[in-house]
Amino acid sequence: MGNDKKITILSIDDEASIRESFAAHLEDDGYHTLIAEDGSVGLEIFQRDHPDLVLVDLRMKEVDGLDVLEKVVKESPETPIIVVSGTGNIRDAIYALRLGAWNYLLKPIEDMSILTHAVESALERARLLNESREHQRHLEEAVAEKTRELRLSNEELQQEIRERKKLQEQLVQAQKMESIGTLAGGIAHDFNNILTSIVGFAYLAKMNSPKGSAGIDFLDRVAEAANRATDLVKQILTFSRMDNQELLPIMVWPTVKEAMKLLRASIPTTIEIRQNIAPTGNVMADPTQVYQIVMNLCTNAYHSMQETGGVLEVDLQEVIIDADFASMHVNLKPGLYASLSIRDTGQGIDPTIIDRIFDPYFTTKEKGKGTGLGLSVVHGIVRRYGGTITVASELTKGTRFIIYLPVVKDEAKPAEKTAESLIRGNETVLVVDDEKSMVIINREMLESLGYKVISCLDSRDALKMFRERHDKIDLVLTDMTMPGMTGLTLAREIVKIRHDIPVILVTGFSEGLNDEVIKKAGVRELLMKPYTPDKLSQIIRNILDESHGGQSPNNSDES
Ligand SMILES: Nc1ncnc2c1ncn2[C@@H]1O[C@H](COP(=O)(O)OP(=O)(O)OP(=O)(O)O)[C@@H](O)[C@H]1O
Ligand SMILES: [Mg+2]
Repeated sequence: MGNDKKITILSIDDEASIRESFAAHLEDDGYHTLIAEDGSVGLEIFQRDHPDLVLVDLRMKEVDGLDVLEKVVKESPETPIIVVSGTGNIRDAIYALRLGAWNYLLKPIEDMSILTHAVESALERARLLNESREHQRHLEEAVAEKTRELRLSNEELQQEIRERKKLQEQLVQAQKMESIGTLAGGIAHDFNNILTSIVGFAYLAKMNSPKGSAGIDFLDRVAEAANRATDLVKQILTFSRMDNQELLPIMVWPTVKEAMKLLRASIPTTIEIRQNIAPTGNVMADPTQVYQIVMNLCTNAYHSMQETGGVLEVDLQEVIIDADFASMHVNLKPGLYASLSIRDTGQGIDPTIIDRIFDPYFTTKEKGKGTGLGLSVVHGIVRRYGGTITVASELTKGTRFIIYLPVVKDEAKPAEKTAESLIRGNETVLVVDDEKSMVIINREMLESLGYKVISCLDSRDALKMFRERHDKIDLVLTDMTMPGMTGLTLAREIVKIRHDIPVILVTGFSEGLNDEVIKKAGVRELLMKPYTPDKLSQIIRNILDESHGGQSPNNSDES
């Protein structure tokens, strides 16, 4: 024991002969010794030198052995202390053991090997105790470490469960919107046929009414109502993402700024508007729809603060979405996004209804105040742009919607303006539609503009007719959805016969058509139902003029 450093033993005894003989013997045994002639000196040395073992006489003047014992046990319970007592004082020795002495020796000690043995066994016991304490400490550390690891992995698991649940909810929501969208899109499609008839026939009836007759007024009302219905169908197609609004790379911030200007003018001053609108990269979008997003969200925010007043905060900035964030949202890819945040300090949304707010026609507003289409339209637009929308809300505290729209590298294109007026012509148009009323409408409209019309109710007959008379036809106007052969296939076949023939494809909704598919089939233009006579006349005229190689159209009134 004690190879590198000698073990130090403190011997306290008021009898010089005893403490010296102890010390001498222990030195012989290889220990380093310290001696003290009374209790208080002994304690001083103990506190200063921290000996490895203490030998103390029980009976000393002033501070006696029991006091020393008590102090040493209290201050350093791991230091072995052996008491030495006079003959016959065995009761003292037992008392000392109770107080914490490790062993006792009775004076006089005739055989010094007793001392050696007592010291050795006390030191060995101290060593074992120390080892076991170390061992215990290691064990406790290992347990604590394991507990920490377990807690961490449990937290990770909980987080994963929460994220999965959220993703699941988003997926259910996306699927719900998808099926509602399909249904609504189908209804809107049929409605568009009907509306085109209404608008068209109202137009024709007006044309054929004597000037100044009362009927003209009524027919204007019919057209007006039909236009309102057209708007509604357009909204339904927007949230079902089946509208065919062309998307161009645009800057978002000017539209947001413009919308905010209008909002400031229409929202009372009890609502403070804070805006932080920074330019972002371009987004494939339609400015009217971006405008609609801002208006719908801000109107909702305004309504939620109407009674209390509050703060409406609109922020636009560019953000990078990383894989982590993207993985927490259905259909979101990592990349650069324009993030539009609209936050209010209004009444908040009840957690029990929050998963329904994007449903079409879901509203908590009283009759006449809201249709419940606002958020579903926003949702439809955002999803069509390949973006996502998040909502966070707390009752009585407020709500925040954030929209992420993917940024593209393309340059922004200036929007074209089209004038609304009737333009005449005298070419021959082949009209193909399986619905009789549509054929009549188109024929009447075109003939009233001066065109000659050949019509067909069956696309296969139309193809036959075109084969026979293609040199007499200047343009083909065909519906998309028809039994037997779709408008797209018809276009393909027709273009094979005469590659320069312009074809206009008429459709109620996009039906999975994109620019590439259309252009590949040889279709010159897609015309969305319902359309007005103005629109039809413009498109036909533009295309025919292009085909004539920029010659000025024959707008004469003859025929
Ligand atoms: N910022 C908001 N604060 C509190 N509730 C909101 C907020 N935005 C939406 N909501 C809740 O979501 C519902 C649906 O909103 P949505 O915009 O789709 O319809 P609406 O506002 O009721 O009607 P519409 O927009 O067609 O006039 C609201 O009726 C309202 O309960
Ligand atoms: Mg609304």
